[in-house]
Amino acid sequence: MKIVSARFAGSSTRTDRKPSPALPEFAFIGRSNVGKSSLINMLAGNSKLAMTSSTPGKTKLVNHFLINDRWYLVDLPGYGYAKLSQKGREELRTIVRDYVFNSAEMQVLFVLIDARHDIGAADWDFLCDLGENGIPFAIIFTKCDKLGPVALEAQIARDRERLLTAWEELPRCFLSSAETGRGKEEILSYIGSILSST
Ligand code: GTP
Ligand code: MG
Repeated sequence: MKIVSARFAGSSTRTDRKPSPALPEFAFIGRSNVGKSSLINMLAGNSKLAMTSSTPGKTKLVNHFLINDRWYLVDLPGYGYAKLSQKGREELRTIVRDYVFNSAEMQVLFVLIDARHDIGAADWDFLCDLGENGIPFAIIFTKCDKLGPVALEAQIARDRERLLTAWEELPRCFLSSAETGRGKEEILSYIGSILSST
């Protein structure tokens, strides 16, 4: 799968106001600051496509990016951002849940987890919700450049073990780095295989 064109198609807060036309979507979710927007830029080969920031809570809307005029990468607001007001958090949660649970075009939801840390409570609750609702998801461990190979392997092994306490089979997992481009080919070829089977 090669990305030859990527452009911002629109922002929305409700699934019924998504940009048209309706096309297959691949969405990215995870804790605030985990690297969702950076990963989208890395995959698209355009560092200016989605706005990124070292301050958590940057993405506040559902942003659609049209790829090759045929499908969308979808950037979602993060969850678990402690500094937001209760009301602000509730608003983001409503936007994210509406998209994740009602978007008929979403093919796979990529759940991003920072490779440096154990799967957090917010991640775990969210993953369980996906499982209970039959939402197709895959996991991407982000910021892999920030760990040495031995530490990285140990952390991923811990995470896999934890996942196997709730899932009989591991979901598809990817290792990524927006800095080095790690994971780009694997993730894009996974998306390509889903697109060619739809
Ligand atoms: P919100 O929109 O606030 O939820 O955050 P986000 O998940 O979209 O994160 P974003 O892509 O804005 O990245 C957050 C910070 O992490 C930025 O300072 C990025 O430069 C940094 N970052 C993201 N991915 C990587 C990575 O793979 N490696 C390294 N070293 N830094 C990264
Ligand atoms: Mg973002």
